[in-house]
Amino acid sequence: MPDAHFRGKVALITGGSRGIGAAVARRLARAGAHLVVNHREAKGRSAELAEGVCREAAAGGVRAVAVAADISQKEAVASMLARAEREFGRLDVLVLNAARAPFKPWEKLLERDLRLLVETNFLGNVFCMQAALPLLARQGGAVVFVSSLGSRFFNPDYPLGAMKAAMEAAVKHWAESFGERGITVSAVCAGLVKTDSFKTLRMVQPELEKLPERLFVTPEEVAEVVWFLAGPAGGVFQGQTLVADRGLSNRLLRPLEGS
Ligand SMILES: NC(=O)c1ccc[n+]([C@@H]2O[C@H](COP(=O)([O-])OP(=O)(O)OC[C@H]3O[C@@H](n4cnc5c(N)ncnc54)[C@H](OP(=O)(O)O)[C@@H]3O)[C@@H](O)[C@H]2O)c1
Repeated sequence: MPDAHFRGKVALITGGSRGIGAAVARRLARAGAHLVVNHREAKGRSAELAEGVCREAAAGGVRAVAVAADISQKEAVASMLARAEREFGRLDVLVLNAARAPFKPWEKLLERDLRLLVETNFLGNVFCMQAALPLLARQGGAVVFVSSLGSRFFNPDYPLGAMKAAMEAAVKHWAESFGERGITVSAVCAGLVKTDSFKTLRMVQPELEKLPERLFVTPEEVAEVVWFLAGPAGGVFQGQTLVADRGLSNRLLRPLEGS
């Protein structure tokens, strides 16, 4: 059911074609927001999935457009935001969800891996924030970043965690810098979620299979937190990162199997 806060507002979700991003898009559409569903690949499965998310949203009564843009490309991000303005004339919520990274130890990262890591997962988010800011500042709005436990815990095959930590720090800086313009900035740090990227992580760390099902978070649960942070109560968490991991990080010293 639409809620008064989101009805008629516009949300842009990076990486909204699948996984957590698609769940966030669905949740915000259900709340009454129009959508810009970003994804990277202009053709194929990704484009089809993004169009599917948009069709679902439209069937629920909101307008939605899928926009292919690689967030690591500044010009592509500028074009995406220009498209959002042409389509809807405003932007109220920016969800920084897209991520793409190699799953391998630091010492094995090639130069192209490092560039992918930084250009997509740090610079890409900064490009999105910079391009969205003039629109968000018109009437105020929310920026929500999707982080992961790698921002604070060691994982040998997850250099993306360092980018997540940098972004959590950026969230604090942006909250201070843009708060006076009526923009709330916060993050959700999700535990393990069974999406396509988790399938890749599981290939390099098969021991994750031993974790009991109850320790996994669903994409819909992460989406619920994003909805909350982007909504009227989200300002209470200005600059903060909420951990949503079903207690996984509480039990790091316990054996993986058995409970
Ligand atoms: N899965 C987990 O266990 C987990 C846990 C905590 C946090 N997270 C975080 O949650 C977010 C979503 O994760 P997920 O597991 O749902 O990911 P996913 O299933 O791998 O989906 C990634 C999404 O990001 C898009 N994307 C990737 N690179 C992009 C780029 N350069 N420009 C634009 N879009 C791009 C993809 O578009 P295409 O379809 O076109 O490739 C896709 O829509 C990420 O930030 C991830 O780090 C995930």
